Amino acid sequence: MKKLIAGNWKMNGGLAANEALVRAMLAGIGQPAAHVALCAPAPYLAQLQSLLAGSSVAWGSQDVSAHEQGAYTGEVSAAMLRDFACRYAIVGHSERRQYHGETDAVVAQKAQRALSAGITPIVCVGETLAEREAGQTEAVVKRQLAAVIHVVAHCTSEIVVAYEPVWAIGTGKTATPEQAQQVHAVLRHQLAAATAHPERVQILYGGSMNAANAASLLAQPDIDGGLIGGASLKAADFLQIVAAAG
Ligand code: PGA
Repeated sequence: MKKLIAGNWKMNGGLAANEALVRAMLAGIGQPAAHVALCAPAPYLAQLQSLLAGSSVAWGSQDVSAHEQGAYTGEVSAAMLRDFACRYAIVGHSERRQYHGETDAVVAQKAQRALSAGITPIVCVGETLAEREAGQTEAVVKRQLAAVIHVVAHCTSEIVVAYEPVWAIGTGKTATPEQAQQVHAVLRHQLAAATAHPERVQILYGGSMNAANAASLLAQPDIDGGLIGGASLKAADFLQIVAAAG
């Protein structure tokens, strides 16, 4: 299976900076062996569409509303993302769970909304440092993924999962390849109970993945790609990660 390298710009960028970054990426990307995507803040999706249409790089959002349409001020629906040809929508990022009170049930609803609009949800799961130290890693990620599987049911094979240990995000503390692989294997096993082809579900690792550590993480049998925060804001670093996924 081709790997997927997805950039998560988070709340960074601007028209001029985005254009320079995307042009530098396109200039160096060639014919990537991996699927590549960039997930931008909603106002810049139209810009990504015009810069990336026809290229080997897809684009996506960092969130999607759990509601279909209507009186939900400030929300962006899956149909709106579809209007801008988003291929992916990140859902349940730990920053949204932590700062915006997103529950497992809300995350599952968001994943379902994305799928209904033909958008692939990148479902994020991951434990905090306190949960890891309390020996709860497996239980936490399984609970988070189970909520999504319960709602998307027969569409489980169409989601992408991202394992992002919260303690590794933006901290420079990467999970070791062995630590990550261990959790990915748990998730794969869980997917096997919900879909006939668990090997088709891409399970990405995220959390301080960078040009130096990408190859060893991506070499693990159940690590099918990466969700890249900080290093997706630098063209050279991101391109090195894409190359490592070849
Ligand atoms: P990071 O972020 O690569 O900066 O750690 C990853 C993410 O939060 O998706």
